[in-house]
Amino acid sequence: MLPRLAHSIHPRRVFRRLIMKVLYKKKLMRRIAVGTLVTLLLVIVFIFVVIPIVFKYTPSIQKMLLFLNSVNIPVDFKRPGKFVPGSRNTYVRGDGEISLGVWQILPKNLAPDEGLEPASEQFDKLLSNGEPVFIYMHGNSGNRGTSHRIDLYKVLQNNNYHVIAFDYRSYGDSGKGELSEMATVNDSMAIYKWTKERTRGNAKIFFWGHSLGTGISSHLLHVLESRNETVAGLILEAPFNNLEEEMRNYPLAQIWRFLPWFDYFFTEPVHDNNLRYESDVHLTQVKAPILILHAEDDIVIPIQLSRKLYEKIVSSRGQGTVDFKSYPSDRHYGHKFIVRDKKLPEVIDEFVKRSIAIQRS
Ligand SMILES: *[C@@H]1O[C@H](CO)[C@@H](O)[C@H](O)[C@H]1NC(C)=O
Ligand SMILES: *[C@@H]1O[C@H](CO)[C@@H](O)[C@H](O)[C@H]1NC(C)=O
Repeated sequence: MLPRLAHSIHPRRVFRRLIMKVLYKKKLMRRIAVGTLVTLLLVIVFIFVVIPIVFKYTPSIQKMLLFLNSVNIPVDFKRPGKFVPGSRNTYVRGDGEISLGVWQILPKNLAPDEGLEPASEQFDKLLSNGEPVFIYMHGNSGNRGTSHRIDLYKVLQNNNYHVIAFDYRSYGDSGKGELSEMATVNDSMAIYKWTKERTRGNAKIFFWGHSLGTGISSHLLHVLESRNETVAGLILEAPFNNLEEEMRNYPLAQIWRFLPWFDYFFTEPVHDNNLRYESDVHLTQVKAPILILHAEDDIVIPIQLSRKLYEKIVSSRGQGTVDFKSYPSDRHYGHKFIVRDKKLPEVIDEFVKRSIAIQRS
């Protein structure tokens, strides 16, 4: 052992080894550097080239991301009384016999105490008692049993309104069917017709749309008015002016927004696949009273889009029958929690009374 050791610590050998080590390290480092660079390039190519191409040519992915109906935490749909007293679950047939899950919630003055629900058959009749009826069109993801939506049903119920909350096809426990803008409008139309039939001409029907549901309710209202039919009023909570602009302003889209080919790969294909939700077109062609509610700290749909929509509507009909109410950032309502505002019941009540007065005049 000893001679070898002596041999190995011979200064020249040690020096040579050291050089080899350094050279090896350098090579290794170069390899690591090249490897990192290649990986980085691949990631960049994937994010900025592959994702846009896949998005452009795959309508099913566009729909999946727009509707987010796969983000669904089921609740006990059949027992809405667990969440809101004075309610029942039922199913309404939409186009192609697709079954749509519906909750009918009675106004407070008709809702008995918990545990004493009226028989399901009585609900149909109670819908014609003359109180305002709100048809609630929810936004993307979740279902009619998502908690911030239930909170709103309670506010409306406490204001003595009926609430009809439902799931579009492929949401919640509704039947499966391909989603599209027209599919969501048609499903809402089926619910509107079902409701109208049961109000027996005593109709003070209002639409409430939230988020994507604002695009759906605005489109439906346009279809109705083009058939000389209308509703008493439309409340838009956190609306956008049209899907194209919403996509450009969506937080996640900021990753690609600066690319010169952003519209070519993202907004144009969606528009060409008839996913448009152009409320700024639909609402300039209707007359029903409109109330817009929007929080300044909404990052999902920036309030500027809502303001643009408001301006468009005003330019078509003047200010008399369209209102805009904004909520300051320090209240932290964001995209989903305007329902927490203590004055909301009053704001809605005022709008409902004014709208009914307009309907009668
Ligand atoms: C929507 O309804 C219209 C008219 O009833 C019908 O022509 C169309 O096929 C329906 N579209 C969808 C996607 O259900
Ligand atoms: C709606 O009413 C207008 C004017 O009263 C009429 O000209 C038009 O034909 C009606 N449209 C429909 C679809 O009934």
